[in-house]
Amino acid sequence: MLAGTVPRMTTRAFPDGFRWGTATAAHQVEGGNWNNDWWEWEHTPGSGCKEPSGDACEQYTRYPQDLELLAGLGFNSYRFSIEWSRVEPEDGEFSKAALDHYKRVCATCLEQGLDATVTLHHFTTPRWVAKMGGWAEPATADLFARFAERVAEHLADVTTRWCTFNEPNMVATGGYLAGQFPPGIRGERALRRKVNDVFVDAHHKTVAALKSVRADIPTGLTLAMQQMWPVGDTPERVQAANERAARILDGLEDVFLRVAVDDDYIGVQTYSRMRVGPEGAIGNEEGVETTIMGYEFWPESLEATIRRAWDVTNHTPIVVTENGIAATDDTRRVEYVRRALRGVLACLDDGIDVRGYTYWSLLDNFEWAHGYGPTFGLVGVDRTTQERTVKPSARWLGAIARANAIDL
Ligand code: GCO
Repeated sequence: MLAGTVPRMTTRAFPDGFRWGTATAAHQVEGGNWNNDWWEWEHTPGSGCKEPSGDACEQYTRYPQDLELLAGLGFNSYRFSIEWSRVEPEDGEFSKAALDHYKRVCATCLEQGLDATVTLHHFTTPRWVAKMGGWAEPATADLFARFAERVAEHLADVTTRWCTFNEPNMVATGGYLAGQFPPGIRGERALRRKVNDVFVDAHHKTVAALKSVRADIPTGLTLAMQQMWPVGDTPERVQAANERAARILDGLEDVFLRVAVDDDYIGVQTYSRMRVGPEGAIGNEEGVETTIMGYEFWPESLEATIRRAWDVTNHTPIVVTENGIAATDDTRRVEYVRRALRGVLACLDDGIDVRGYTYWSLLDNFEWAHGYGPTFGLVGVDRTTQERTVKPSARWLGAIARANAIDL
């Protein structure tokens, strides 16, 4: 660029019908979700949980204002989850009041001009299911499909898109291999493989149940994905690192990407990369900026994982169902999302069918074992007064959503 010239701003449009949204999860925003395994886990000594979820963002009652705020910013889509333990607090006992509540949430989305993407399982499992073996118990797949069918019978007419499971790979690996999620098992890969299989079986049975109620509602699952970054100081070690990365991906992501081959969409959820040497993950690179979560600030990971999902699923349509950063400096959130969206445009330019971008999250909320410290939200929440504060990034991304275009 010649000295003294102003960098040329180019406006890039997204495809007609591209959806712009934000995401939340029941346990992270509603408050008072005491009848599930995470509430118990938060109060289990040694679990590593920083604090209990408590009242969260009181969104069980405050959702009308939050949805009005989201629509007012310019967004046209909202992804949220239904809490199984509210709908079915005991085996076979279904709450019409809870189903009516979630129907009102969906209806409010539609009234506000927001698509309603309904996630049926976002990390939390009812205590009664956990007690009978949770996701290591094959019978759980049938119980979940029964729950999903009851939800579909009640909500299908006001639901735009179903998500069966949010990041089943994180629940299986976190809960049954790494011991960081409930039930906190530091298991063998064989157990993780068995849990993966229960989730795959549950997904197939749930899709069938959902389609039996309304066949025209797009259905899929969402997956935590990371850009694998092989590291080695010789060609042989780089090759060994690549082989190790492929082994990590097989049990962590590919088992579910292969399921998505037959789905209406795959939800890609990416935050950063994973650097891998011949022996396994090797942690962050010296000098690379990190977020509150300790992840490397690496927005280009989204493009890489969209491309991999497109390839491994043999071209199942993509929805970015989570992307974002936990940051106190909101200008870093804008920079991260700008670069992530640049990657989405590159994928679109190459003919990849990306149908929407969902920022995680609408609100600063309960970040699982990390508690309320990591602030991902476009909207801040005062932990004492529950007052919402719209951040500049919310207005910036909302304007892009309204224009369906971005200035690069
Ligand atoms: C996940 C969950 C979200 C997290 C978000 C930030 O992907 O882990 O879907 O519940 O809060 O990803 O870590």
